[in-house]
Amino acid sequence: MMTLLRYVEETASTNEDVRKLMSEGAPHGSAIFAGTQRSGRGRLGRVWFSPEGLNLYLSVGLTAPRQPRELQLLPLAVGALCATVIEERTGARVGLKWPNDLWIGEKKVGGILCESLTSGSTLQGAIVGIGVNVNIAENDLPDDLAAIATSLRMETGRAHDIEALAGALRSAIVDAGAMVEGGQQRSLLDLWQQRDISRGRRVRLLEDQREGVAEGLEKDGALRVRFDDGTTRVVRSGEISFVRDTH
Ligand code: BTN
Repeated sequence: MMTLLRYVEETASTNEDVRKLMSEGAPHGSAIFAGTQRSGRGRLGRVWFSPEGLNLYLSVGLTAPRQPRELQLLPLAVGALCATVIEERTGARVGLKWPNDLWIGEKKVGGILCESLTSGSTLQGAIVGIGVNVNIAENDLPDDLAAIATSLRMETGRAHDIEALAGALRSAIVDAGAMVEGGQQRSLLDLWQQRDISRGRRVRLLEDQREGVAEGLEKDGALRVRFDDGTTRVVRSGEISFVRDTH
């Protein structure tokens, strides 16, 4: 059988590599994971810290979904299924911060970047990139990240096999694509909400810095936030941050 998962020692960004592969006609589920990335990309134009050999940098090309409505749910499905895989393999309890950040306790352990694959104005599928801090030690985290990030090793006290995890996460991402395409929205939202760490917490919206309390998901995967004056907003893009308790 043709192997769908390839390893490269170093690259600019695995999301870009997989985009190229898919444009050359690679099959659904084709994936690349790298030892290090020179310009790893995060959500909202950020940089993704990608030190050599310590963490997981994986991208998967999907030729589905082809409906924009389903594409909107894909990041949530990927988050929920990847959190489950990481938890099963490492024993660490993984939570989700909307839309698809992987957290352990009060720190981020992984992030997901979903991009659409298009031809002209037609949706052809998606590229799903996931970065997980696997074996990095606290001392190797830059100061700005040490306050907000953790790793599987830091949380479980032991090192984990990055290649084995990459294989399991590739399958989970393919399953997430099938889930949104197969009309399983309801169970997907349930699955996500079981790991929701935002619900009931005070959050700040990136778009205008307004604060409110996260109330969970709408049917389309958007986040509902209730402000102090009782009005609500449905957030479809961007980000929330947690407002720390000052007591
Ligand atoms: C986030 O901002 O939370 C998303 C981070 C996604 C990082 C991964 S690492 C593999 C893939 N290649 C990239 O350039 N980014 C994603």
